[in-house]
Amino acid sequence: MSRRSIDAARLLGRISALGDIGRDGDGRLVRLAASDTEKLGRDQFVAWIRDAGLELAVDRIGNIFGIWKPDDVTDGAPLLLGSHIDTVIGAGIYDGCYGTLSGLEVIETLKTEGLAPSRPVVVAAFTNEEGVRYAPDMMGSLVYAGGLDIDTALAAVGTDGTILGRELERIGYAGDYPPGFLKPYAYVELHIEQGPILEREGIPVGAVEDLQGISWQRVTITGDANHAGTTPISMRRDAGHAAARVVTFLRDRAKSSNTPTVATVGCMSFEPNAINVIPSRATFTVDLRDPDEERLREEEAALADFLESLSAEEHVGVSVERLARFEPVKFDEGIVTLIERAARDRGLACRRMTSGAGHDAQMIARIAPAAMIFVPSIGGISHNTKEYTADEDLVAGANILLDVVRELATEGTPA
Ligand code: GLV
Ligand code: MN
Ligand code: MN
Repeated sequence: MSRRSIDAARLLGRISALGDIGRDGDGRLVRLAASDTEKLGRDQFVAWIRDAGLELAVDRIGNIFGIWKPDDVTDGAPLLLGSHIDTVIGAGIYDGCYGTLSGLEVIETLKTEGLAPSRPVVVAAFTNEEGVRYAPDMMGSLVYAGGLDIDTALAAVGTDGTILGRELERIGYAGDYPPGFLKPYAYVELHIEQGPILEREGIPVGAVEDLQGISWQRVTITGDANHAGTTPISMRRDAGHAAARVVTFLRDRAKSSNTPTVATVGCMSFEPNAINVIPSRATFTVDLRDPDEERLREEEAALADFLESLSAEEHVGVSVERLARFEPVKFDEGIVTLIERAARDRGLACRRMTSGAGHDAQMIARIAPAAMIFVPSIGGISHNTKEYTADEDLVAGANILLDVVRELATEGTPA
């Protein structure tokens, strides 16, 4: 029997078209959650859902669903596919969009093929996966899985002072459906790896078996503004210098350990932010990640200890706010094995791996068996306009998703 494959030209064309939506004056892709540019991306995705003849649903946190529910399905719990279409600042075109559009592509292919699924198959674009504008990240899927109260999430204040709920209303994506309205049978997310492993090893498919823990904190250091020319170093309470010491502490600690711990300070601002004034306030974020929960706790504790001694040594005030905290997640062994088998059946090498990035799959794993498929990222580059995955790898990954979905959509309903 000849094996059907996805429509590669349609998928690649859509990835490219969505990637053109939300370019700023410098050509950078910026589709922050619930922004004007993200609305345009959402509108395009919704148009494609309608073109595919799927039922559209939007829930209260703005998650968008395209539902394929043939009349004669025997099981109401849907197989859920998806990812996100919001982006970071200066994003590539694949992160999130690849998985979302592949989910849609797979459903269209199976519909055309005349598959009679035992259960609905649904594609989702989850709100605010990136967490750049509103914390925490993976917010739409977290709310969907019941891990964050909807009203708290809608009240989230953005880095630009906006309120998420009002922004969703403004762009027309504050839906009526209660989050969690469809309890999934299973969830599968296809994504670019965003790291260097698959490319380095020459392997086209990753079966993602777990995902590392994520800790996000915002640290504020307060000192005294004073004259840059007249204040002796020994008399300063320099919030900027103290902040710089935290950056190097995190880096040195991660580098000198034999563990996979990673630490990043991605945002920093000084007040009053003037060339000849000692900073009176430094605010910065800390992103700590580790696949091992115990070790992640140790890293958080080491940072807390360092901040305490820093406060005494530098005579500065230190306060810490937690922005997000997610434990490492283990994905469903059965679906991981299915992914490995699908790759083998298409003659593609596959390896098991850990996801370094956060994904909606880690939230949906709270309410349904879930797993992920990765494809290589050239140079391991992501969250960058240079993010790139070869078309051949994109198509191969979408075909693995197709085969996995065909299996999960038709297998017998467990007693
Ligand atoms: C999501 O992109 C993350 O920060 O891992
Ligand atoms: Mn992503
Ligand atoms: Mn991302």
